[in-house]
Amino acid sequence: MATNTLEKKDTVHAGTAPAKTILFGEHAVVYGEPGIAIPLWNVQTTATLHPFAEDAEDQDFRVISDSVNLNEKYSRLPDAMPLKKLIRNIMEAFHIARPPRRILRIESTIPIASGLGSGAACSVAIIRAFAAAYGFEAEDSKISDIAFEIEKCYHGAPSGLDNTTISFGKPVFFRKGKGFEVIHVPEKLRLIVADTGLKSITSEVVTDIRERYQQFEPVIREIGRLVDRARVTLENGDIFETGALMDENHRLLQKMTVSCEKLDELVQIARSNGAVGAKLTGAGRGGNFVALADNALDAQRVKAALEKSGAKIVR
Ligand code: PMV
Repeated sequence: MATNTLEKKDTVHAGTAPAKTILFGEHAVVYGEPGIAIPLWNVQTTATLHPFAEDAEDQDFRVISDSVNLNEKYSRLPDAMPLKKLIRNIMEAFHIARPPRRILRIESTIPIASGLGSGAACSVAIIRAFAAAYGFEAEDSKISDIAFEIEKCYHGAPSGLDNTTISFGKPVFFRKGKGFEVIHVPEKLRLIVADTGLKSITSEVVTDIRERYQQFEPVIREIGRLVDRARVTLENGDIFETGALMDENHRLLQKMTVSCEKLDELVQIARSNGAVGAKLTGAGRGGNFVALADNALDAQRVKAALEKSGAKIVR
């Protein structure tokens, strides 16, 4: 089998990927119910492959990511590290015989461990940077499959919603194992996404819910029915009904014990300042939440109130 080799020697090659926010169906989506998520393009991960300086003595493939304090030779990374596994998988999938004599730099404005898919975005950006550097066509579906394998390292049995939304970069109606449909959402969807500042480890929350699956099964099925309704209201541009369903989804997530005091407090502040609905997004117990406003003025008011209460506005 022919192996791929690096494109032009002296060029920097880049790949980018957006964050995502789950509008409806987190957790239930792990158990076969549908989920709706959209990409968030205003926060992104960028991966670049740089050549070494000509006279650099050591030209072993190196990975640098300031946000996680990483600056290490690829060969020295632990084999079990998701990042190392990702690079191994990329090389295998695209027939790259040996690690590139390059520096891989990862930069991201997506908050980590906060429900916005930072892990999947990192994988997708890196795959795209390799595709650019080696000059191969990487279809979104293939990118998504590679990223999905790595999602498994982060949280045991992921639904696949994160890597799908982020790889395709489109709003999706998704069902685990059954694929997805791109859905139409109103162009001016006034979504406010904000960060509680509390880190949340998806695998821990997902594992906890799995251990109590029987207890939560009725709620999971109820969320599934709600997501089907939400798809219709969203595609019809019925903002008020969509907002009401977000509120309802949040209440169901509270029943599943995946909200927390801070999330509840900020979601309430969003509602009392004009949001037509608000809910946590992602794994919960910290991380981000999403609110919907009917018009620009209300959106501004919601953002101002949230900022005043200590939330960090992501979008
Ligand atoms: O916290 P995030 O961004 O990794 O989202 C997790 C979403 C879950 O539904 C809780 C898990 C999954 O695999 O879909």
